[in-house]
Amino acid sequence: MINKCLFPAAGYGTRFLPATKAVPKEMLPILTKPLLQYGVEEALSAGITNMAIVTGRGKRAIEDHFDNAYELESQLKGTSKENYLKEIIEIIEKSTFTYVRQKKMLGLGHAILTGEPLIGDEPFAVVLADDLCDCDDNGVITQMIEIYNQYKCSVVAIEEIQLDQTKNYGIIAGNLLKNSNNTYQVTDMVEKPNEKDAPSNMAIIGRYILTPDIFDILRNIKPDKKGEIQITDALKIQAKNGKVIAYKFKGKRFDCGSVKGFIKATNYFAEKLEINI
Ligand code: UTP
Repeated sequence: MINKCLFPAAGYGTRFLPATKAVPKEMLPILTKPLLQYGVEEALSAGITNMAIVTGRGKRAIEDHFDNAYELESQLKGTSKENYLKEIIEIIEKSTFTYVRQKKMLGLGHAILTGEPLIGDEPFAVVLADDLCDCDDNGVITQMIEIYNQYKCSVVAIEEIQLDQTKNYGIIAGNLLKNSNNTYQVTDMVEKPNEKDAPSNMAIIGRYILTPDIFDILRNIKPDKKGEIQITDALKIQAKNGKVIAYKFKGKRFDCGSVKGFIKATNYFAEKLEINI
């Protein structure tokens, strides 16, 4: 069973400055909903109710968002606007939120290690809320839990990208599993390679199922040239032991950590909800 979902949300979001000076990137909205709420909804739809969020300085709006707002709720109660709060109130009722602060932003691997006290010794999901996914049927985390239940090892979601984009992603090398057209046994991983050094065009996106031995591995990972601890380096060690499956998920993904992706997501959801501009 996967009971907990970790949301690393401590990054500076520099690509969205000055908007992210006082507002967490994860709270930027696509239409009326913050990015992190989409991520929490995806976890809930996979049957996960325990949301573990790694925050940092200047991220208090996240905690306020996932808490009751008595004054606002009582003001709107019985009015035509009450409906606007319905979705978020339901999420708050169904979920438990726990928080830990990452004191120094030392990379995604470090953020995941910071979440260890919230997770403990059990397999868990990870959602990077700035990768916003939309699926016709099951959400990406639901799809990945199915794969986890089959193989009982770490699972990374992947997407085929244009080769000139490899320098923005962790890229896998792997072999297609027997009788499958979407799951690979990962043999190696390279963090943000140049096009010519990339082992494939299969990029890891912001969805993972991780086994808890990842914490001990992360503790021993040396920081990279930028002083960051990369999750890819830890996964590479699991992969060398045959313990990582890459899964080509079904659905759409928007890189909302970039302005271009954020605009694309906004347009996509506006069209989907038939909002005429
Ligand atoms: P990104 O590199 O996309 O986020 O990290 P960022 O650093 O906030 O963005 P830019 O590049 O400065 O614009 C991917 C995810 O990992 C989290 C981020 O919050 C984001 O969800 N993260 C990253 C942390 O929680 N801690 C870190 O030290 C780094």
